[in-house]
This record gives sequence, C-alpha cells and structure tokens, in this order.
Amino acid sequence: MGLKIDYHQVDVLNNLSQIIDLTKQSAKLERFVKSDDLEEYATYFALRSFIKASFCFGAYLNGRLVGFIVGHLKDKENIYGDKNIISLYLSLKAKFSQYHFMADNEIYSETCQQLLDEEDIETDGEITLFVVDKNQRRLGIGKNLLLQALDYYQKNRAEIIYLTTDTECDYTYYLNYGFKVRQRGIVSYPDKDVGVFIEYKVF
Ligand SMILES: CC(C)(COP(=O)(O)OP(=O)(O)OC[C@H]1O[C@@H](n2cnc3c(N)ncnc32)[C@H](O)[C@@H]1OP(=O)(O)O)[C@@H](O)C(=O)NCCC(=O)NCCS
Repeated sequence: MGLKIDYHQVDVLNNLSQIIDLTKQSAKLERFVKSDDLEEYATYFALRSFIKASFCFGAYLNGRLVGFIVGHLKDKENIYGDKNIISLYLSLKAKFSQYHFMADNEIYSETCQQLLDEEDIETDGEITLFVVDKNQRRLGIGKNLLLQALDYYQKNRAEIIYLTTDTECDYTYYLNYGFKVRQRGIVSYPDKDVGVFIEYKVF
C-alpha cells in the first residue's frame, strides 16, 4: 500500500523544528558554518525564505512534515509576516553578521544576483526553498509539492517565474517541469567550484 501523505499549508511556528531539520538536508550549509552554529544558521536560512513567502505547501506523513516548498509571488501578501518569525529572523541575522563565514555566503548570493541583473527579466515569482526528507525521496512527494506550487502560480496568472540552484543541489530536477536554464555562473570556494544556475519557467 502507498504512503498516505497529506498536503496542506505549513504552520511555520508550530513546525519550526521539522522545517529546520529538513532545511539542513537541503543545502550544504556546513560549507559556510561551524558545526556548533548549524542549527541556528539553518533557522536563519529557512526564515529568510519565509519572511517574503506567498505560499508554503507541506507534505505530512502521520502528522510529521516530510517536505515543503516555499515561494514568492509578486504583489501577493506575505503570509508569514508574523512578528515572531520576523524578530527571530532579525536576531539571527544580527548574530551571523559578525561571523566571517557570511562573506562566503554573500559571494554565492552576489553571483546569483549578478546573473539576474544581466538577464534583466521582469519575473512574477521565485521558488526559494524546496526539500523532501532524505528518507522519503523518490516517492513522488517532491513532484506533488512542485505541481502544487506551479498550480498556485498559474491560478494567480504568473507568466514567468524563476529559481536559483546549483551543482550541489538537484539542479536538473526542474527541467522535467518546464524550467529552462537561462544563465550559468561559477562560485569559487577555496576547496571547489560550484556551478550556479538560474532556471526560468514561462507559463
Ligand atoms: C529535489 C527533491 C525535493 C525531489 O524530491 P523527491 O520527493 O525525491 O522527488 P520525486 O520523488 O517527486 O521525483 C519526481 C521525479 O523526479 C525524478 N527525480 C527525483 N530526484 C531527482 C534528482 N535528484 N534529479 C533528477 N530527477 C530526480 C524522479 O525520478 C521522478 O521522476 P518520475 O516522476 O518520472 O518517476 C529532493 O531530492 C530533495 O529534497 N533534494 C535535496 C534538496 C534540493 O536539492 N532541493 C532543491 C534545491 S534547488
């Protein structure tokens, strides 16, 4: 029998610890951060997406969050503008601004921003964070979450959306859903180069 997964909007504050666990699996955060700070940094990393999110759809297995997708739609109200979320984000941001590893992280963001500026396309939204529990992958959960997000954009008349991804993520995943890589860049870290991609989908 297949898994019984429920899909619904995520309650960020109630599900924060599950969100953090999943976020740690979504990106190579340890590249930037000392292991002691990983938990808090993952919180900061996730909340950075939530403070400008228009939606976050979650997949629940027996009440436990096993995957989520977060995105932003232009001109759409931020549904997670809760003052508790914002103040937690700001306090972590202030804490991490003192740390030298933020500089490495900045290089990544700057490379992506540069690519976006070069393309200079008016976009309607961005998928900012997407992860499925590593023990529940390849079961179709990601597909359901991504299709819900795309449906949301379509219903809200988005014409073009984008996401940024890289060679340390599953950057080919989105090509099956009509995304096309329009720009490529390289972020050079002391130990290796990471290829970054901006992928766009036109509805
Ligand atoms: C990307 C991710 C969310 C996919 O979730 P998932 O639940 O495993 O994906 P699904 O089971 O729904 O897979 C859907 C389809 O994509 C294919 N697919 C799954 N993982 C893939 C991968 N890593 N690369 C390419 N295709 C993949 C599957 O074969 C499946 O195809 P099918 O429908 O023809 O069988 C998950 O692998 C993940 O959390 N990765 C780490 C975080 C990450 O990279 N996030 C994106 C950052 S940009």
